[in-house]
Amino acid sequence: MVNHFLKLSDIAPEEIQPILDRAIALKKGAPSSALSGKSVAILFEKPSLRTKLSFWVGTEKLGGNPVYFAPEEVGLGKREPVADVAQVMSRMSDVAVIRTFEQSTIEEFAVDSTIPVINALTDAEHPCQALADTQTITEQLGSVKGAQVAFIGDGNNVAVSLGYAVAGLGGHMTVASPDGYKLPSADLEGANTYGASAGGSVSQVTSPEEAVSGADIVYTDVWTSMGQEAETAKRLVAFDGYQVNPELLDKAGKNVKFMHDLPAHPGEEISDGLLYDDRSVTFDQAENRLWAQAALMEKLI
Ligand code: NVA
Repeated sequence: MVNHFLKLSDIAPEEIQPILDRAIALKKGAPSSALSGKSVAILFEKPSLRTKLSFWVGTEKLGGNPVYFAPEEVGLGKREPVADVAQVMSRMSDVAVIRTFEQSTIEEFAVDSTIPVINALTDAEHPCQALADTQTITEQLGSVKGAQVAFIGDGNNVAVSLGYAVAGLGGHMTVASPDGYKLPSADLEGANTYGASAGGSVSQVTSPEEAVSGADIVYTDVWTSMGQEAETAKRLVAFDGYQVNPELLDKAGKNVKFMHDLPAHPGEEISDGLLYDDRSVTFDQAENRLWAQAALMEKLI
């Protein structure tokens, strides 16, 4: 049985905290040679800065060898069937890190993969980001359990994975989105079921002010994700009033922290300069991709 990480809920709720604890230990300098003599194939259909860098450097830190394929190189499912790419990668490498448009493509890949497949972002989920985010919340608040997280904007891939992770760790996430851009109802229900044993929850509202009231964390992401560029003009109208800015943060808890998975679009989902606000922990979040994914790879291998 191969351990894949195609969506956040592929790991049990009680498995999350040990990964975060290990990530924090690795960040503090704990040694690891978990990938010694092993190769990690990194294959992306979309652009990337943090994910590519963090998997590449993370693999090297664990003693392994990263092999990166840019979006135009492989032609996953076009130049060569997804199943064949999966079989070839399985013969020559030990972990596959895949970023695709459709969630169904990575699921299809995993069927024929005999090595662990890690979702490095699809249209449906961004589970590695959620691990780094909950590591960051743990560092900031001491624990995700009982934390109030407000996610403002699109109920997208980042929101979905974060919802599962926060709920699974016993935290509470409120997502504020306009009609038409709310969390998929299956994920709203799924995250609540996933988090039930930990006492966590995810709820959906429309008002950003309602979501941030009492929040320990205010989180946002781009209004137009990769692959949705043709909808940009329509989305700019739909998300009017959903910008995270200092005034909105002032309405949250006194010690609120601001989070964004990056890249950000100042003037759209955040005001100019918000990444550099004293309350922003966005660059800690970015760095934690490295440590959270290293801990994940150790576990999956
Ligand atoms: N929701 C964004 C996240 C980018 C890291 C996207 O999918 O483009």
